[in-house]
Amino acid sequence: MAEDVYKADAEFVSRAHVQGMDCYRALYRRAEEHPEEFWGELAEKELFWFDKWSHVFEWNPPFAKWFVDGKTNVSYNCLDRHLATPRKNKVAILWEGEPGDQRMISYQELHRLVCRFASVLMDRGLKAGDRAIIYMPMIPELPVAMLACARLGIIHSVVFGGFSAEALKTRIQDLEAQVVITADGGWRRGREIPLKKAVDEALAECPTVKDVIVYRRTGTPVEMKEGRDLWWHELDQNATEVCPAVPLDSEHPLYVLYTSGTTGKPKGIVHSTAGYLLQTLMTMKWVFDLREEDTYWCTADIGWVTGHSYIVYGPLAAGATTIMYEGAPDYPAPDRFWRIVEKYRVNIFYTSPTAIRSFIRQGDQWPNGHDLSSLRLLGSVGEPINPAAWEWYYKVIGKERCPIVDTWWQTETGAILISAMPGAVPQKPGSATLPLPGIVPDVVDMSGKPVKPGQEGFLIIRRPWPSMLRTLWGDPRRYEDQYWRRIPGVYLAGDAARRDEDGYFWILGRVDDVMNVSGHRLSTMELESALVRHPSVAEAAVVAKPHEVTGQAVVAFVTLKSGRWDHNSLAQDLRQWVAHEIGGFAKPEQIRFTESLPKTRSGKIMRRLLREIVTTQTVTGDVTTLEDLTVVTRLAAQHDEG
Ligand code: WT7
Repeated sequence: MAEDVYKADAEFVSRAHVQGMDCYRALYRRAEEHPEEFWGELAEKELFWFDKWSHVFEWNPPFAKWFVDGKTNVSYNCLDRHLATPRKNKVAILWEGEPGDQRMISYQELHRLVCRFASVLMDRGLKAGDRAIIYMPMIPELPVAMLACARLGIIHSVVFGGFSAEALKTRIQDLEAQVVITADGGWRRGREIPLKKAVDEALAECPTVKDVIVYRRTGTPVEMKEGRDLWWHELDQNATEVCPAVPLDSEHPLYVLYTSGTTGKPKGIVHSTAGYLLQTLMTMKWVFDLREEDTYWCTADIGWVTGHSYIVYGPLAAGATTIMYEGAPDYPAPDRFWRIVEKYRVNIFYTSPTAIRSFIRQGDQWPNGHDLSSLRLLGSVGEPINPAAWEWYYKVIGKERCPIVDTWWQTETGAILISAMPGAVPQKPGSATLPLPGIVPDVVDMSGKPVKPGQEGFLIIRRPWPSMLRTLWGDPRRYEDQYWRRIPGVYLAGDAARRDEDGYFWILGRVDDVMNVSGHRLSTMELESALVRHPSVAEAAVVAKPHEVTGQAVVAFVTLKSGRWDHNSLAQDLRQWVAHEIGGFAKPEQIRFTESLPKTRSGKIMRRLLREIVTTQTVTGDVTTLEDLTVVTRLAAQHDEG
């Protein structure tokens, strides 16, 4: 295959952590042949330990333990240990609010803020093993809250601010959280997101929650419920600055992050302490080639795993300066990101293909109006990046100087598993390239047999890795069934992939009922159950349609209960309903009304057929008419017979 191959220039390579293919291969081989020594040495060298582990790992499939019996603390590793170094006064978090306000928080200052808030949590009686829900805008107090929880061993679960009260409620209930940490609101595209209001709505049915701590961000008056709601700034008046990090077991859960699975119920992905921290830290060096002087920016929201691992835990453990931006990329104008890159002289920039495609659409004049010469390395994550978007990113943003790391990973994997090491592995646009050290992926068929190069199959990982999920919160059975049973003994990622003659991985997308819209994971079942909760809906079938900017878009086929419905206004209502049940980002792009859904004889909805219809546009014209139905059912009948 004659693909374009891109290599970093000699200057980049000469300063890289990993220089050249031979270096990469040696590292990979060592990790493969001697995993215990490999990870053991890194853990020893790269992390602070209160007590050293007794052995590197224990594997009772499908349950893994790493750095067994070790005692450490993530907050200590991200903060305290930097204070005895020249990083003490280095900027840890470089924050810009959407309205243009700025904060530059040094490691020392961040440590102080975290200790103060941890002391507040302690005063409220919270302790290791308790659970906190964090529902905040992208302001520094969000990582402060996460690190304060981590300091005490309180298991946190950050809920993305775009989730609705309803979605928040199910997460609070599943986690049986004792405390909710939130803010009055946050800014997005010039408008306020009323977070506290959503919390109030959610908490009507959450008896486990005793305290709600509210940070004042926007200043808009909010209702404060006596005996439950507390202002952050008032509690802070009695805070102390001495609040030592609690020595925690390596396997103590650091956080739970909910993500969509194949059923209607989101999965609570449980991440550990030591293994998670080590691998997020190592990938900062291997993949982002982090240098002490870098300004690093990951544009994700901390509500998703990318923000956890690559805005907060990885960068802070590595002592980096990490940028955090509160708002929308196109506010007040489509050059907001490039303004930030120019202003702070950003060196490493990590974003999603969806963002890249929307930049392409807005026009080159926006990035071209800014000095982007500080950039050294670009990254992509969340979905396959199409070669055209890759080339644009390379030329228009990177000026053909910056390697691009296309990083494949998942909420479950905790850290990047497949990506180029930019000073070592040549890049091919559209390929995540090669696995990182210690990761043994393969592409196999249903029976687990490796497929030939160039052939499509299921992406699996053969061995446990330090930052892998440990279980699903409250549901170890589902953990086993989902990831380890269908192809026995290996981790099933849920993605289709192929591997080329050079061993490069090309990720093709999900093979299960999970969609990827703008890099956000959505479940078919979750959307369908949201729709059928609406009083007008009898049945719903949801499929993804390719979309130029967002990668995929949601199309919902809906049958209605008897009655007279105005399709136009009902379609609007249903989109609003989905926003209410899940969040605005999950709104279907299209609602198509039909009198029945194509089904197999056993009554199973044939989504595959609907997917074909929306993808190949076999159906044209007004899609909300009855005619649709006949096409759909005819196609279904044909298929059924064939
Ligand atoms: C799914 C995981 C990992 C952080 C963001 C998403 C897709 C992710 C890539 C990539 C092709 C990718 C996969 C994966 N994905 N990165 N570089 N190339 N596909 O986390 O919500 O857990 O979604 O995103 O389909 O399974 P997530």
